[in-house]
Amino acid sequence: MLLPSGIRHLPGYLDRRPTQEALVEAIRTVVAEAPLYTPVMPGTGKEMSVRMTNCGPLGWVTDKQRGYRYQQTHPVTGNHWPAMPPQLLDLWSDIAAYEKPPEACLVNFYNDDARMGLHQDRDEQDLYAPVLSISLGNSCLFRVGGLNRRDPTLSFKLSSGDIVVIGGEGRLCFHGVDRIYPATSTLLRNGGRINLTLRRVTP
Ligand code: SIN
Ligand code: FE2
Repeated sequence: MLLPSGIRHLPGYLDRRPTQEALVEAIRTVVAEAPLYTPVMPGTGKEMSVRMTNCGPLGWVTDKQRGYRYQQTHPVTGNHWPAMPPQLLDLWSDIAAYEKPPEACLVNFYNDDARMGLHQDRDEQDLYAPVLSISLGNSCLFRVGGLNRRDPTLSFKLSSGDIVVIGGEGRLCFHGVDRIYPATSTLLRNGGRINLTLRRVTP
């Protein structure tokens, strides 16, 4: 399978023990401080099926009135986002090959019915830095296309411990998650899937 230029799939990059397990623990700590909430689409106010939170100096949020953006505080609690766990900063230095550290880690939680429509990640001012995406828990069917919404797409499974790098010429490729495969991992006690995306936001 030939992925678009700039998109890299690193299957099984993170070992289960201790790396994935430690990451889940770190994310539990983040979620205890910055609870998952249900984001809504700009304009329509339609709820997304994925629940979200963030860690790091900035977090990606969306709401009906103000749309997609990055901000320093949790939209429900009003508190600053928790610090980014050090393992994530290390992963960024190992894989992203970018001089500046990531500023945002978006935590997406998919229950087994959740999905994410085809979209581009383009709310960052710095489009030279890659987006680094980490999968934990149940597998999903990931879809990636080209720079135009109507370009042909290809789909492949992402499993727990896989990493996808969305960078270079592929930085603005459309992508989404068509479905979650229930009971394909024992990492998360109550099922579902966690996706972490590390992003550099400011130049
Ligand atoms: C995203 O595009 O923000 C999420 C991708 C994924 O869940 O793998
Ligand atoms: Fe995305």
